[in-house]
Amino acid sequence: MELVLGLDLGGSSIKAGAVDPSTGHVVGPLDSIPTPVGATVEATQAALQELIARFPQCTGPVGLAFPSVVVRGVTYSAANIDKGWIGCDAAAVLRAASGGRPSFVVNDADAAGVAEMQIGAGRGEHGVVMMITFGTGIGTALFIDGKLWPNTELGHMEIDGMEAEHYASARVRTVEKLDWPAWCERVNKVLDRYHMLLWPDLFIVGGGVSERFEEYGALLHSKARIVPAGLRQAAGVVGAALYAHKHAAR
Ligand code: BGC
Repeated sequence: MELVLGLDLGGSSIKAGAVDPSTGHVVGPLDSIPTPVGATVEATQAALQELIARFPQCTGPVGLAFPSVVVRGVTYSAANIDKGWIGCDAAAVLRAASGGRPSFVVNDADAAGVAEMQIGAGRGEHGVVMMITFGTGIGTALFIDGKLWPNTELGHMEIDGMEAEHYASARVRTVEKLDWPAWCERVNKVLDRYHMLLWPDLFIVGGGVSERFEEYGALLHSKARIVPAGLRQAAGVVGAALYAHKHAAR
């Protein structure tokens, strides 16, 4: 089975891993490179090229999890990245960085959700499942009986006159020095609004902060079940690779 390279662009680093698409497992260690300051298209392409060259064993397609609305490879928003990405053919940028390999770009929360639904906390879950990633921003991915509704972008939903991600992201917790009870009070409000809108059966809490779920999980409340992500750091990388594998086969 040829290995598929999964990439995940975050606020501080671009992570990469070789993924066996038949199992979703990362083969060998993850690698990373700092996200270029400002993350312009040109600088990001150069960083991707350098990172991709470290994985000669990956001969399959390439997938990139990216913090933007992504429709058929084109990025349409730029909340925490350079505005040059708006309307950019990001799949073409990735193709150029990978020397012409079949290249696929997917929203980062959607990628993490795809991985969780296939081999993580959402495995075997039916009904409405919502993955939420808490990081620099808030990302959301919505699944109905395992099928993704892409680009939900509910981190930008307004809560008390403020975008949810400006109110309760992991970054906001750090910047405002919120303790777990104070942060969870905000997250509960966000969960409540999402529940009112979409009535999910399950929330999967992801992003870096999910690694500390045992410290705050009991403070989170919703009418829906709440579980931590199962894949932790690798979710975006694995999801991007699985997404690329699936779409390359079409
Ligand atoms: C972006 C989303 C992304 C989320 C998490 C938001 O600011 O608009 O596309 O999924 O951050 O990175």
